[in-house]
Amino acid sequence: MQAPSPRGDREAEGQRGESPYGQENLRKGNFFVRYGIFSDIHSNSEALDAIIEAYRKEKIDKYLCVGDVVGYAASPRECIDKVKKLSMITVAGNHDRASVNLFSTDYFNPLAKVAVSWTERNLDEQDRYFLEGLALVYKNEDLALVHGTLDEPGDFNYMTDGYIASKTFELLETNICFVGHTHVPGVFIKSKNSHIEYQEGSNIDIKEENKYIINVGSVGQPRDGNPQAAYCIYDTDKENIQIKRISYDIQTTRQKIINEGLPRFLGERLLLGR
Ligand SMILES: [Fe+2]
Repeated sequence: MQAPSPRGDREAEGQRGESPYGQENLRKGNFFVRYGIFSDIHSNSEALDAIIEAYRKEKIDKYLCVGDVVGYAASPRECIDKVKKLSMITVAGNHDRASVNLFSTDYFNPLAKVAVSWTERNLDEQDRYFLEGLALVYKNEDLALVHGTLDEPGDFNYMTDGYIASKTFELLETNICFVGHTHVPGVFIKSKNSHIEYQEGSNIDIKEENKYIINVGSVGQPRDGNPQAAYCIYDTDKENIQIKRISYDIQTTRQKIINEGLPRFLGERLLLGR
């Protein structure tokens, strides 16, 4: 892992207001970047540790987090600390916002509601400050980053079909948008004749004439039937995106959830990847 940002304050991390990285020199052709992009950690510090370790072998230049650092599992503070140290930019997820009362839990399922209120009670002032400051969207010369969709990003809609994807494609100024939220990795591809198709592939070669919405899957609560933590690498030189998986100590995460009195199902589902 190459030099995670040492910046500790929020302005330096570009979390609030104008990003200091907005005009950085990442223009294609001048400067190639290997991005490490990950999402939906959901307070699972064992899964987060596993992907950080896996990224060490990948010569990553910049890390980006697509949101939902907290919610569901029992290590919100540890996950916030690790993401703050690692990630250049983190965009807000619905659980991040709900945990600091910036998003309603009216449409959350009952178990998610329990987890949000437990998380709320277990954050300190610095954690809240970090979560409150997360922007909804990040864009640079290479990519866009949003938890749900680029249209109405604060509504946290799920990118589940071509029609929903088409609205994000319309707003996309670069070739690639990275999303999370569904906890299911996959890719929507829009060809130059505007045809949109969905693929489950985990190794995507980028073609200049296409646009892509990449769902990077979930670090801490995968729901595609594979319980391994998901993490993504985007290499702008090779024009290639890979979504990889890594095993982690699920039993420890499960036991912490149970020990904290969180709903038992939130631990059991990790074993199934559902
Ligand atoms: Fe999530």
